[in-house]
Amino acid sequence: MAIIKYLGHSAFEVVLTGLDGKEKTILIDPWLENPLSPVKVDDYKKKPIDYIFVTHDHGDHMGNAIEIAKATGAKIVGIFEVALYASEQGVDAVDGNIGGKLKIPDLEVVMTPALHSSQRGVPVGFVIRGKDISIYHAGDTGLFAEMSLIGELYSPDIVMLPIGGHYTMGVKEAVKAVHMIRPRIAIPMHYNTFPPIKTDPEKFKELVENTTTTKVVILKPGETLTYP
Ligand code: NI
Ligand code: MN
Repeated sequence: MAIIKYLGHSAFEVVLTGLDGKEKTILIDPWLENPLSPVKVDDYKKKPIDYIFVTHDHGDHMGNAIEIAKATGAKIVGIFEVALYASEQGVDAVDGNIGGKLKIPDLEVVMTPALHSSQRGVPVGFVIRGKDISIYHAGDTGLFAEMSLIGELYSPDIVMLPIGGHYTMGVKEAVKAVHMIRPRIAIPMHYNTFPPIKTDPEKFKELVENTTTTKVVILKPGETLTYP
């Protein structure tokens, strides 16, 4: 079972069972000071966090990762250059690169490509698999044809896809991404935080659910999805 809490923008807290059977708490792209954030950074400094996944080095994704990792001892997982930066800041970091499974003992993690830019290294997405669920967080990305391989190889149960346009896929491209990945559930992200990425998630839901068996779960910041 997994509990996924949306923290606004591209930030999620996920509690899932690791491959070792123990509960893991992870954060993905924890920019907890985003305008829609329902939480305080300080609250997350007191939580037991195991891993913080950072998809790329833009402020709205790196966010509060370093300070939360410092306070909690969480390991930051990112592409080589992002992990190097994190370790230079005195944080425990796991580096890796796009390709095969990372050597993390309690989760199966794969970095996927993302079509975007980054201050350090290149942007990525993450497929994260625990004992009984797998999640694909696409990071910031445009649509790319290899998303169908992500569906084929890793069959993620849940995907988090950007839908806001301007900097990432918009609704039209994200619907196509769902067609290629075929997850059970799609959660839209990276929209309505600022005017340029204002978008109607209901449109995404309607277009996906009219053309696939995927269910779209629109989480308001602070809401959780329990799966299955
Ligand atoms: Ni970005
Ligand atoms: Mn972004």
